[in-house]
Formats: sequence, C-alpha cells, structure tokens
Amino acid sequence: MVDTNDEWIQSRTGIKERRILDKDKATSYMAMEAGKKAIKDSGLSSEDIDLIIVTTVTPDMAFPSTACLVQRDLECENAAAFDLEAACSGFIYGLSVAYGYVKAGIYKNILLISADALSKITDFTDRNTCVLFGDGAGAAVISEVKENTGVLSIDIGADGKGADYLTQPAGGSKMPASKETVENRLHYINMEGNGVFKFAVKIMGDASKKVVSESGLELSDIDYLVPHQANIRIINSARKRLKLDKDKVYVNLDKYGNMSSASIPVALDEAVKEGKIKNNDNVILVGFGGGLTWGSCVIKWSK
Ligand code: UT7
Repeated sequence: MVDTNDEWIQSRTGIKERRILDKDKATSYMAMEAGKKAIKDSGLSSEDIDLIIVTTVTPDMAFPSTACLVQRDLECENAAAFDLEAACSGFIYGLSVAYGYVKAGIYKNILLISADALSKITDFTDRNTCVLFGDGAGAAVISEVKENTGVLSIDIGADGKGADYLTQPAGGSKMPASKETVENRLHYINMEGNGVFKFAVKIMGDASKKVVSESGLELSDIDYLVPHQANIRIINSARKRLKLDKDKVYVNLDKYGNMSSASIPVALDEAVKEGKIKNNDNVILVGFGGGLTWGSCVIKWSK
C-alpha cells in the first residue's frame, strides 16, 4: 500500500505484527470484552460496579459515550459512565481519576477500560503512521486495597503547546465533516512523528523519576517497568535512564503495535499472567501521547 518494508518497520519501531478490529465492529465491542474479563477477575459482579470510565480517542460515535454503551451491554445497572480522552496516556489519566474517587469515598468499584481502534482512523496511504498502530482494549477494576499497596504515587501532565504534533483534524466542531474534509483525508491521524519521539524520550524518564521520588522509594527499589508501547527505541531509552535491566521491562509491541491507551493495561495484564510481576513488586507504569499528555505511577502489586 505504501513505500515501506519490514526491515525499516522492525528496526525503527520494533513492531512485527498487529491486530485489526473487524470492519463491522466498533471500540465498544473490545471495551466490553475487556471489561467483562476484568469484572470476572475481580470476583465482583456487574451490579457491584458503580462507575465505568472508558478512555479512548476512537469512541463508537461522538455521543453517547462509549462508556454508556458498555454500561448497557455489561448490565452494570448501578454504574455512572463517562469517557475520558487523553490519547495514549488515557489509562494513567483514568487511573488517577478512579484513584481519587475511591480515596474520597465517592465510588467503591470503578471499571476502568482503555480501548482504541486506531485502524478506524489510520490513513493506509500515509507511511508515517500506517505502520504503527494496532487495535486493542485492556481493563481493570479499581477498588480500595490494603494500606501501602496499590497506587503509591501517581502523576499526570500536559503540554498543549505540542497539540499539533498528533491530531485528527476534522470531524469536530472546528472542521465538521464535509465532502471537502473527506476528500482531503482530514479524518485520519496526522502525526509529526519525530517531534513526538523527542518529547517521548525525555518525558518517559522524567515522569518515571518524579513518581518514584513521590512514592518515597529509590530507583533501586523498582522491580518492573510497564511502559507505553509505541516504539522500542523510546522504551530502551527510558529503561537506560532508569538503569533497569532488559528483563525488568515489559515489551509486547512486537505483537500488537501501538494500541494507544490500551497498551499499558494489556502489557500489565500479560506481565502479571506471565509471572513477571509478583506480589509486592514495585512497578512503574508510564505513558505519553497526543495532547501532548503524559502520566506515570508507582504501584505496589498485590492481589
Ligand atoms: O503513542 C504516541 C503516538 N506516536 C508515537 O509514539 C510516535 C513516536 N515517533 C516514532 O516512533 C518515530 O518518530 C517514527 C517511527 C514514527 C519515525 O521514526 P524516525 O526515526 O523518527 O523517522 P523520521 O520521521 O525522522 O523519518 C526518517 C525517514 C524519512 O525519510 P527521509 O526524509 O529521511 O528521506 C521518512 O520519510 O524515514 C522515512 N519513513 C519511512 N520509510 C520507510 C517514515 N516512515 C517510513 C516507513 N517506511 N513506514
């Protein structure tokens, strides 16, 4: 479809395979499947969920929220529901909101789902973006845990000066859908990859160090890193800045590509299921994305 090759893609990004959502399915389908598994895993039932947050840049439609569609499909009758948009940083943003609600005693069991179907807004004639993104969803139930476990520190940030680096220009109130916007391919992702790359290399290390310091731990206390899966070169540079060995960092972007906000929860789930993260491990989750946005946290894993 474009002038590219496997060697370029693997050496510049680390990506080998991706998953693409069926044409007749939408983000809510993946969100619901992930949400269902998370509720089952938590030992709770649908009625116990009192809030659903879906983080996504590819909602089924502008409104109603994808979270409301999931609430209906999972029969979470007691849950409020809303979407949150922070691009690839969505899961950490969502976690910070859920954590705040639980801590304040406002909600008890929050279903946090990060789901993105970027294939639906990818321009497969643009080699700068079409080799990078894949579709997926990850979910977690956020509830109160024992003191000194779970989230030890969490931080989110934004720099709107970099808003133009990563956009879907048309389809909103600035440029409503029209024949011209479609003809000019303005409903697809537009990215200045190198600008995002430079920002990512700096912020992944800075944001991780900040939450480690706020958690009261030292870098040497960190057992594992689960970074946003965008590019292996970005992950390796963060790993080096944090002085972590290769086997302390989870990488699955070779299988899935960049799944936007879904990448961190999917990686966390796989790392736990593969036994790479164990009880009482101190784990950094860190991500960056359009906005520009970023988010990081330290969790003490306990289940
Ligand atoms: O989750 C947040 C979303 N975004 C990101 O994470 C993106 C972060 N950025 C990146 O991962 C990297 O910037 C890319 C993988 C997108 C690009 O890698 P790069 O090393 O920054 O390459 P570049 O943009 O500086 O481009 C280098 C060359 C250019 O050719 P010229 O101008 O030097 O002749 C590009 O046109 O590579 C060319 N190029 C390609 N060549 C083959 C760009 N894309 C491709 C491609 N195949 N798919």
